[in-house]
Amino acid sequence: MRTISGEENALNWLDFWNGNHSIYVCEKHRQRHHERIGADIVQRLPPETGIVIDYGCGEALSAPQVASRCHRLILSDGAPSVRDRLSEWHQDAANIDVMSPEEVLRMDKGSVDCIIINSVLQYLAPEDTRNLLQDLSPLLAPNGRIIVGDIIPPDHTVLADAGALLHFAWQEQFMTEAMIGLMRTFLSDYRKIRATYGLTCYSADDITAIGTRLGLKTQRTALNIGHDQGRMTFELQRVAA
Ligand SMILES: C[S@@+](CC[C@H](N)C(=O)[O-])C[C@H]1O[C@@H](n2cnc3c(N)ncnc32)[C@H](O)[C@@H]1O
Repeated sequence: MRTISGEENALNWLDFWNGNHSIYVCEKHRQRHHERIGADIVQRLPPETGIVIDYGCGEALSAPQVASRCHRLILSDGAPSVRDRLSEWHQDAANIDVMSPEEVLRMDKGSVDCIIINSVLQYLAPEDTRNLLQDLSPLLAPNGRIIVGDIIPPDHTVLADAGALLHFAWQEQFMTEAMIGLMRTFLSDYRKIRATYGLTCYSADDITAIGTRLGLKTQRTALNIGHDQGRMTFELQRVAA
């Protein structure tokens, strides 16, 4: 696990997510990103799934699709401005709730079937990731799973990220916008924060060690959630006694 220093980094990344950022190169990219994430999550949920938490959910534009596959969907994000927007968008939705991370941790133990954490752990220091998974795991119902997605392996480079974006843009036909967007990103706060604070990378062994220490059966899945197949997804399952 590549180590970055703890609290200060998390604060800076959270400030970034809480502010007015633009990580999508165009509206089509934003829409297709969320459609892809939503479809990949839905595929991993058995029909009639009970409670699902999307932790570090961001805008979660495909939340209605995910909510249609479970009894209750909880959207949780550390950035208050993100939660405000989500609460407004989903105020009339019967089975979508928005919660802060602190509220999530107060939920009943053993009550949650699936916790999705996609594209989040790279913004946490390794000890914060271990603590987060340790705090969330008691919420799992028997056979419940934590799915951690978009994990960046240590040998994954910024160029690989750019290549994956261009491949996605080629498939979805927003290539010109992607190339302009990559240049904009190079000049943006995202790149400056990334250059200063870095992103935390984890090997498959790192994630397996964390899951195993928590008594969770941990497996890498064949495909990553989202467009970047150079990154990894794992399922950490509480095995019923
Ligand atoms: C790259 S976005 C991922 C959003 C979404 N999961 C997706 O895959 O599109 C990272 C999100 O994680 C949230 N986040 C970062 N650190 C967090 C933390 N410690 N607790 C909860 N949310 C966090 C950010 O506010 C941001 O919305």
